[in-house]
Amino acid sequence: MRSNRRPLPLLASLCVLFVGIPGCHGWGWDGHYTTCKLAEPYYSNATVSAIQNLLAPGQYLPDLCSWADDVRSVYKWSAALHFADVPDDSCVFNYTRDCHDEYGVPGRCVVAAICNYTTQLIDGYSSGNSPYNLTQALLFLSHFMGDIHQPLHLGHEGDRGGNSIIVYWYNTRTNLHHVWDTSMIYTEEDDFYNGSVDQLEAAIAQNITSDEVQQWQTCSGGQPPCPIVYASESVALACEWAYNGVTNYSTLGDDYFYSRWPIVQQQLSRGGVRLAAALNRIFGSS
Ligand SMILES: *[C@@H]1O[C@H](CO)[C@@H](O)[C@H](O)[C@H]1NC(C)=O
Ligand SMILES: *[C@@H]1O[C@H](CO)[C@@H](O)[C@H](O)[C@H]1NC(C)=O
Ligand SMILES: *[C@@H]1O[C@H](CO)[C@@H](O)[C@H](O)[C@H]1NC(C)=O
Ligand SMILES: *[C@@H]1O[C@H](CO)[C@@H](O)[C@H](O)[C@H]1NC(C)=O
Ligand SMILES: *[C@@H]1O[C@H](CO)[C@@H](O)[C@H](O)[C@H]1NC(C)=O
Ligand SMILES: *[C@@H]1O[C@H](CO)[C@@H](O)[C@H](O)[C@H]1NC(C)=O
Ligand SMILES: *[C@@H]1O[C@H](CO)[C@@H](O)[C@H](O)[C@H]1NC(C)=O
Repeated sequence: MRSNRRPLPLLASLCVLFVGIPGCHGWGWDGHYTTCKLAEPYYSNATVSAIQNLLAPGQYLPDLCSWADDVRSVYKWSAALHFADVPDDSCVFNYTRDCHDEYGVPGRCVVAAICNYTTQLIDGYSSGNSPYNLTQALLFLSHFMGDIHQPLHLGHEGDRGGNSIIVYWYNTRTNLHHVWDTSMIYTEEDDFYNGSVDQLEAAIAQNITSDEVQQWQTCSGGQPPCPIVYASESVALACEWAYNGVTNYSTLGDDYFYSRWPIVQQQLSRGGVRLAAALNRIFGSS
């Protein structure tokens, strides 16, 4: 049922039409689905039943991991929570400097949002007494854990995370941000997995080693999630891989795709493993 399903994500397509809308950031539908599905093998029993309790019967979390994009135009306050930009001459994340919205209001960025929804779930789930809608908290957290691992989410301010860098992906005109959100994932699916997001996800899942799981689940000096660490990794990857060698109107093809795909795969994997670690910390590891 779910395989080969390719609903064109509404907001991803809007990103193409209105290139450069501020806040048009994050993996596309397949990237978010993949992140949330990659998390599944690492869930504790407590996490499995909490997810079940928070969703309606028949709902499946990976199918809902793009919900936060769908409500972005309704909940306008949430747009800034999908990303954080750094100054154009920087390749490091500085929370004080970089975590704000377009008006400069501090604490309005993906790093703070991950902490916000983690806290809402920790405080409210076991007490059964929360002022917040915890289903929405779960869906926002699952989505933002994906977004923060998309390197161009932590991109440069001047080009809006690559949104205003026009590129040709093979023959198709798009922008650099969209290449990382969507194009590389779809090209990989089409070229190697018969257009099936489930086959791609299964292949990525098989590639994750137990050493990586061990390493990614851990936050030095604290409990997962540690979004400042994830943001710092993403900015470094944005500079080293996403922007590197690209100028306005570059044509990107096999060379770019084959050298960058391992980064995409690694970031999807980290997002999944770390989402599971965060949820296990929230709901209990037993
Ligand atoms: C979940 O519970 C089952 C049976 O109660 C147990 O066999 C299994 O190891 C548990 N799984 C995890 C991930 O704790
Ligand atoms: C981070 O940014 C703030 C505000 O611009 C600055 O005061 C601080 O020194 C920066 N921290 C580091 C480690 O660069
Ligand atoms: C925290 O969550 C609430 C409820 O969704 C929201 O109103 C608020 O803007 C969020 N703040 C951040 C920084 O995520
Ligand atoms: C919580 O949010 C979900 C998803 O938006 C919605 O379906 C549900 O009705 C909300 N629950 C309450 C009690 O408002
Ligand atoms: C790329 O070119 C377009 C139009 O030619 C321009 O609007 C955009 O700002 C340029 N991008 C950058 C990053 O300079
Ligand atoms: C590829 O997808 C097509 C259409 O969905 C299907 O008919 C075909 O059996 C698939 N091939 C493989 C190798 O999975
Ligand atoms: C899995 O890892 C191998 C070896 O590193 C690599 O060739 C392959 O492309 C990876 N699979 C996926 C789905 O990226």
